[in-house]
Formats: sequence, structure tokens, C-alpha cells
Amino acid sequence: MISVTNSANEESSSSVFSLEGQLALITGGGSGIGFYIAQCMIQAGAKVVITGRREEVLKEAVKSLGAKASYFVNDVTKLETIPQLIADIEDALGPIDILVNNAGINMKKHAIEVTDEDFDRIIQTNLHAVFSITRECGKRMIARKQGSIIMITSMAALYGIDRVVAYTASKSAVGGMVKALTTEFSPYNVRINAVAPGFIETPMMLTAMNGDPSRRDKAMDRTPMGTWGKPDDVGWAVVFLASPAAKFITGVSLPVDGGNSIGF
Ligand code: NAI
Repeated sequence: MISVTNSANEESSSSVFSLEGQLALITGGGSGIGFYIAQCMIQAGAKVVITGRREEVLKEAVKSLGAKASYFVNDVTKLETIPQLIADIEDALGPIDILVNNAGINMKKHAIEVTDEDFDRIIQTNLHAVFSITRECGKRMIARKQGSIIMITSMAALYGIDRVVAYTASKSAVGGMVKALTTEFSPYNVRINAVAPGFIETPMMLTAMNGDPSRRDKAMDRTPMGTWGKPDDVGWAVVFLASPAAKFITGVSLPVDGGNSIGF
């Protein structure tokens, strides 16, 4: 006879969504969506460590995030520094339970004007660095048989958008990486998922959209909910995927987009 264990009986609904006792590393967490991911994770009980290139920005962010936050200055494109960065974080703060690959850059140009240097710059930040950090955290998580890795991708990984060829290639490749690594990491209880934000109200997004009204209208017209997302919409989705409530979820890409990815 098959015996069925109902874990809902064992854990209260608040505890399955809790990140209490866990340490999360959020790249590019000093500003934009990454900052809000940090804020949501702290509210869910986690300790967070944010990274970025500008110490002043990180200092300010940690000041407003409070005692559960700390920072390390790091440029993710300096790939040779990454193994030491992860070692330093774990030496100082303990095991990284959750990795959020948030740092990313974009560039809007017609494909035929994108130089090899342009293309390489985007790929280095959005793809190669993501792989290096994931490998370094992944090998430690695999050894401990525990971990959750979350990639921040984009609508550009789900459908075609003009003038963002390098960005699209990088985010689509990260989507592929999630699939490949799911097969290698999940047997060791290391889950790997992606959140694909739709159009989220950040200063960068608003500036880009306001400078291009036809693009703005096109994006809004295909968003059934009829609004831009807020950065904490992404933050709470990340909390969910990192939490024990998602303990059987691996290899998925979760759009947080007000229906944009299926809008007409
Ligand atoms: P943002 O520009 O406000 O934040 C990006 C963060 O990454 C910044 O903290 C920046 O300092 C950091 N970063 C960039 N290059 C770095 C490097 N070499 N080393 C370390 N840190 C670096 O942009 P936003 O909007 O908050 O984007 C965050 C993530 O969400 C990105 O991966 C982006 O592609 C993704 N995204 C954003 C959307 C939006 O509507 N805002 C939509 C879809 C995806």
C-alpha cells in the first residue's frame, strides 16, 4: 500500500513560506529590482548579502535594509574573482542557501549596429557571469545537498523584442541553463528556477519607455492586467520559489508579468 504523507499537516502555512535561518546572495542587489528582492527576502526572515560595483550604493542599500543585510563589492564580469568572492562570503556569513542571479544590463540598438564588443559586454554580464557564480555556489550547495538558485530572466527570453538582440540571446541562454542544470543539480536537492519579469516600474524601465511612446503603448496593450509591475511583485515570486513551499518546483520559468507573455 502507498502511504501518503501530507506535509501540510506538519508545517503551518506561514512557516512554509518563511526563509528564516537562510542566507541569500543577491547579485546587483544595491538598486532596482535586486534591492526589492532583498527587502522581500528579509521580510520573509532571510539574511541577505548583496553585491555590486559601487560601494556607496551598497552602503546606502544596507543602511535601509537593516541588520539582516550586508554587502560585498564585486563586479560580476571579473570572472576570476568569483570563486574567492563566494569563499569570502561563506567564511564571513556561513553557507549560502539561496542564490539570486539578478545583476544584468541591457542595450537598445538595431541588430545590424551592434558591434562584437557590445554583444560580448552583454553576454559577459548576463550570461557568463551568471554561469560562473552559479557553478561556484552550485558546487557548495551540491556538497551540502541543499540550495535554491533563481535566475532573473525577461520577457525577452519568452518572445521576440526588437533592438535587444544581445540581451535576448543572453536571457534565452540563461533559460536554457536552467533546464540543463536542473538535470544535474536537482538530484542533490539543489533546485534551480527562473523568474521572468514583465515590464516592471524601475527608473531604468520608465526612462526607456517614456523615451519611446510607441514601445510603451505596445507593451501596455498586451498586458491584460493593464499596469506595469512593481519591483516587489518580482521579490515575492523569488521568496516563493526559494521557500519550502516550492520544495518540489525545479526547472521552471515563472513569468511575473500581469499576463504580458500571453497577452494579444
Ligand atoms: P537596474 O539597472 O536598476 O539594476 C541592475 C543591477 O545590476 C544594478 O544594481 C547594477 O549595479 C547591477 N549590475 C550591473 N552590472 C553589474 C556588474 N558588472 N557587476 C555587479 N553588478 C552589476 O535594472 P533592473 O531593472 O533592476 O534589473 C534587474 C534584473 O531584472 C536584470 O537582470 C534585468 O535584466 C531584469 N529585468 C528587468 C526588467 C524591468 O522591467 N526592469 C524586466 C525584465 C528583466
